[in-house]
Amino acid sequence: MQEVLALIEQKKQEYAQLSLFNFMQNKNINPRQRLVWAPCAAHFIMNFAELNKYFLRVEPTSDPIQALINAHTYEDDHHWLWFLEDLKSLELDKSLKFSDALKFLWSEETKSARWLNYQLYRYASQATPIQKIIVIQVTEATGNVMFSRAAEIGKEIKAISKKPCRYFACLHLDVEIGHMTGTPGIEEILQQIQLSEVVQQELFELVENLFTAFTQFTNDLLVYAETHQIEQRLKVA
Ligand SMILES: [Fe+2]
Repeated sequence: MQEVLALIEQKKQEYAQLSLFNFMQNKNINPRQRLVWAPCAAHFIMNFAELNKYFLRVEPTSDPIQALINAHTYEDDHHWLWFLEDLKSLELDKSLKFSDALKFLWSEETKSARWLNYQLYRYASQATPIQKIIVIQVTEATGNVMFSRAAEIGKEIKAISKKPCRYFACLHLDVEIGHMTGTPGIEEILQQIQLSEVVQQELFELVENLFTAFTQFTNDLLVYAETHQIEQRLKVA
């Protein structure tokens, strides 16, 4: 298992180098503009609680790893509500016909968010507790990079507009850090798990494929941010 966790750490460092994060840290750009991609991430963010509820959680369980996973799955239950609040604070909560909102959520420009969900469902569905732990570790690794950058922007926005962000905020970053990776002794428990060669290879593939989906998603958020101005109405192709 150590090798799989080491691969996640290496991929996390690579993920942190993506151009979106330079864009998000560029203080020459209006902070709201640096989060203008938020609607583009909606499909992924809004589905996250259900990934936990319907795919990662299995109750009741006698498996100690699944029990850890179950406890973890409750934390993200309500974070989508914070996202909806932030859309207001960012002034991105524009009126749209229902059919146009649906078209946007299933449009070409938001397809990476949907694809990421489908990959997460694929790997979390009927998975062993160890596979689920790896899905969680990858989402926490990428989330940690993203929320560290986003929380800084949230602070800037609050200082300027007095409108506090809750999803793109330190509060969110703190609870994310308190997730699985913050469980006392979890690293030791995971490090000690022995895997067969076959299972290790499967987990390597899972890690690679999920990081590919997260990378595509993140790169497409930047494309969206560079082609949409914060003041512009949501346009549906
Ligand atoms: Fe969250």
